[in-house]
Amino acid sequence: MDYVVNPAPLTGGRFAVPGDKSISHRALMLGAIAEGESVVSGFLQGEDCKATLAALRGMGVKIDAPDTTTLAIRGSGMRGLKASAAPLDFGNSGTGMRLFAGLLSGQDFSSRLIGDESLTRRPMARVIEPLTRMGADIDSNGGLPPLTIRGGRALAGIHYALPVASAQVKSAILLAALYANGDTTVIEPAPTRDHTERMLQSLGVALQVDGRRISIRGRQAVKAANIEVPGDLSSAAFVILAGLISPDCEVLLERVGMNPSRSGVIDILREMGASIEVENTGLLGFEPVADLRVRSSPLTAIDVDPSLVSLAIDEFPVLFVAAAAAKGRTRFTGIGELRVKESDRISAMAEGLRQLGIAVDEFEDGADVRGGVLKGGVVESHGDHRVAMSLAVAGTIAASPVRILHTDNVDTSFPGFIDGMRFLGADMTTSRAVPTP
Ligand code: S3P
Repeated sequence: MDYVVNPAPLTGGRFAVPGDKSISHRALMLGAIAEGESVVSGFLQGEDCKATLAALRGMGVKIDAPDTTTLAIRGSGMRGLKASAAPLDFGNSGTGMRLFAGLLSGQDFSSRLIGDESLTRRPMARVIEPLTRMGADIDSNGGLPPLTIRGGRALAGIHYALPVASAQVKSAILLAALYANGDTTVIEPAPTRDHTERMLQSLGVALQVDGRRISIRGRQAVKAANIEVPGDLSSAAFVILAGLISPDCEVLLERVGMNPSRSGVIDILREMGASIEVENTGLLGFEPVADLRVRSSPLTAIDVDPSLVSLAIDEFPVLFVAAAAAKGRTRFTGIGELRVKESDRISAMAEGLRQLGIAVDEFEDGADVRGGVLKGGVVESHGDHRVAMSLAVAGTIAASPVRILHTDNVDTSFPGFIDGMRFLGADMTTSRAVPTP
């Protein structure tokens, strides 16, 4: 499927983005190994989280879905998961595969983890290395999926300084640590999203957090609890930018997750001149939430502070569009991790924006983007949901229509993106992919 975006500014309105993807994955996994029933509300019915749901059902966990965003998980306890008859297919989801690598390393059965073409290109050595140190037995295709995890290995706690800032790696180790003898400590090179730590604590697991050092005692039980999932700030980011760059527009986004380990995008956009007011702040369970009021704002180029990269890691594709719409040259540095996401996001965004007439100089760990007038054209999303949505936002202010190719994966994180954007005034349609001759 492609998107066709006809230039039209957003008129604005009130909108609630779907549930947070990271928190939805974790709610499922921890609910599945908890003792007792957990009800998850606000769950994201995106393809990535649905793959996690299917994997757990394949391992014998009973999960009812009374409606599309509510799940009742009958936790099977720390030792209640069973071998899946079929390989566990995580589709497009790096979070799914990496977190399950941790969870499955301590089971007494073996598992095979597979994924789609994009996931099969993504590095897994970053989880295999620490998990192997803990005693796990994992085969891979030279550090790439598929993974085969042999069960029945006794795990032992480790002390591990993460070489890359990655919440997925940190979480994989913490999940394995639940099955290990002794204590595990992980030290992060930069702060990353702490949803696993917050959720574990809320489910009765003792955990010490001291700055970037997280310690956990092995062999603790997880207790069931109800979990409310806030709106996903990473999805909200597309709507926020579309509102900012539309003239005379005001958008109110309700109950968006505002965990400080995720909210770097707000700081970066505000530094560029964005008017984003944070209202109605509160806690939804163990996660901070707020309503965000966004008003059209002229944006100015900045040098993006590299210390904010790990706090906005998924928002750089849309920040490239902010830079394209801003006055002056925006410099992104320290974003090399973007090259190993669902696509090489530095090169995908540089290519897409250049196609729309924007000057982008790409370098190994970043890019310079010169703000300018966007023209229409045909751009490739490389099957990456965040690249697709970012280029769709760019299309709202282009001089003529923009066609974005291969957008099906938007459903991995933001089902209803097109409908939401249309509701706020955008002129977008989906179109069947034009077959390549
Ligand atoms: C995620 C962590 C991030 C992020 C991904 C979700 C998570 O990946 O890009 O979309 O849920 O832990 P890294 O931690 O590997 O950077």
